[in-house]
Amino acid sequence: MNKKSSAQRIGVLTSGGDAPGMNACIRAVVRCGVRHKLEIIGIRRGYAGLLESDFIKLEARSVANIIHRGGTFLGTSRCKEMKTTNGVNKAIQNLHRENIKGLITIGGDGTFRGAMALAQAGEIKAIGIPATIDNDAYGTDYAIGFDTAINTALDAIDKIRDTAGSLQCPFFIEVMGRKRGFIALDVGIAGGAENILIPETKTKIEEICLDMRRNFKKGKKSSIVIVAEGDEAGGVFPIAQQIWERLRIDYRVCVLGHIQRGGSPTARDRILASKLGAAAVDALIDGKSGYMIGELKGEIAFTSLRETWEKRKELDDNLLQLMKILAT
Ligand code: F6P
Repeated sequence: MNKKSSAQRIGVLTSGGDAPGMNACIRAVVRCGVRHKLEIIGIRRGYAGLLESDFIKLEARSVANIIHRGGTFLGTSRCKEMKTTNGVNKAIQNLHRENIKGLITIGGDGTFRGAMALAQAGEIKAIGIPATIDNDAYGTDYAIGFDTAINTALDAIDKIRDTAGSLQCPFFIEVMGRKRGFIALDVGIAGGAENILIPETKTKIEEICLDMRRNFKKGKKSSIVIVAEGDEAGGVFPIAQQIWERLRIDYRVCVLGHIQRGGSPTARDRILASKLGAAAVDALIDGKSGYMIGELKGEIAFTSLRETWEKRKELDDNLLQLMKILAT
């Protein structure tokens, strides 16, 4: 069997939380696949669509004019059934029925768990591409969507800074990041925050109050406190309330929410998506399976799918120190 015949018909799906740049990635998969004379089948609504055989044949022109669009034109879902043995078996049957030999899955850790289950069963070759605004997959410096999300959040924070300065009061801004603080840390530094609260460090309410008291004495009444949604102190509202109970100061809370997931992807996200999509097609052609394709220090890197959620991606603690120095 020549190399190419091991993956003549391949599927592509997006799953989990959508991330800006997913469309650019699907485009790269389709166009590189077509160039290698593969047939590309799009699977709608992630694993939910796979379990319902919701397939669509994709040609080079099917992905015209999507590189600049946020979201994913294939749709996405969080599929509980794919976490069961029955679900995985059904997925394999549906892929067999469609004669799909290789699958490219674009998403985060839930997506990779599904891909791993398929790869482990042995008959389907599965490759993962990291696309999650949380940027928490081990094995890649950046996941598709992160750069756009932090720029979207930053744009909002810049606007809030105007009103915080005018109102002269602290703003507590919650950004996404279910388990990790990558978004909070980057937008906190770029947005000139006075405090950044992330799940990786213990949130000390007394210390924040002390900082605020010191700032009031210096005449600095407005401040920006960035809170990752997954912060262990329980979310932005209880944190703001605890500070109010100690300082009795007027404050505002803003939850940026899903606005961070939408919008046109940045150039960086489009380029990353294009590179990873192309590399995933090459990987399937080479017969690889069970890997996530990421980028480390600018180079394409393969990490076993299991490691992507079992190993912990380090964040740069030095940035927290830097924030303290810069927020004086
Ligand atoms: O995983 C990305 C993410 O945006 C997280 O930051 C957030 O906690 C979660 O998805 C929200 O998911 P959903 O849109 O399904 O509520």
